[in-house]
Amino acid sequence: MNKEVDEELVNQIDSENIPNHVAVIMDGNGRWAQKRHLPRVAGHKEGMQTVKKVAIAASNLGIKVLTLYAFSTENWKRPDKEVNFLMKLPVTFFGDFVPDLIKNNVRVQVMGDVDQLPKATKKAVADAISQTSECTGMILNFALNYGSRLEIVDAVKEIANLAKRGQLDVDSIDEDVVSHHLMSAPLGQYADPDLLIRTSGEERISNFLLWQIAYSELAFVDTLWPDFDGDTLIKEVIEYQGRHRRFGGLESE
Ligand code: FPP
Repeated sequence: MNKEVDEELVNQIDSENIPNHVAVIMDGNGRWAQKRHLPRVAGHKEGMQTVKKVAIAASNLGIKVLTLYAFSTENWKRPDKEVNFLMKLPVTFFGDFVPDLIKNNVRVQVMGDVDQLPKATKKAVADAISQTSECTGMILNFALNYGSRLEIVDAVKEIANLAKRGQLDVDSIDEDVVSHHLMSAPLGQYADPDLLIRTSGEERISNFLLWQIAYSELAFVDTLWPDFDGDTLIKEVIEYQGRHRRFGGLESE
């Protein structure tokens, strides 16, 4: 277990009930910077350090997939300076951190419209994916230029085209067919998050994994993303373990 996390907290974890897939809406970077009279991008830079801490803590906990909402299809509306900074973050992050990811057996994956990213960002992402492709531990899945409505629209188009070409019977379209055409399909049995965390006190989903969170446990925490860390993640996992998931059925106990 990572020495940087509180051992007392670690002792409270039920190792038999670790959420397989944790997804995080990393919010509050701007407010973190504002509180310190720093430019917004300073919050994003600190937020990147949090990504490193939380990725290692999640891997140590035995989480199978950690999906992080790094850039939404709506984030292009931000000022150019901020967008440019956010686009450079993956270059810095993977440049520094891929050796640590490999050491921790973590594989990088990305969901989103990567083709629309600047060339250097695309290359950093592609390199990280290929450099970690042999890792068999946790998947660190970045949602980059991702939007869930667009993902669903694209899936509907693909399915409609298959039906139009006679390659798919309309009556055979079910939830599995839809899931297989979403960007989360490569995550297989772990495509749907067990736990979705949003930091910074905002209580919105912001076009993130709309289909996949149908039965996820939701946690809205007040901590700003740059202040989040391994201990905060463990607290959220412990809180998740106290919930009773019924998936629409009745309590089994
Ligand atoms: C939301 O906070 C955060 C983002 C839009 C960017 C998230 C990106 C990171 C945490 C760094 C990602 C790192 C890698 C490696 C890609 P906000 O700016 O909306 O905060 P505010 O609501 O306080 O203004």
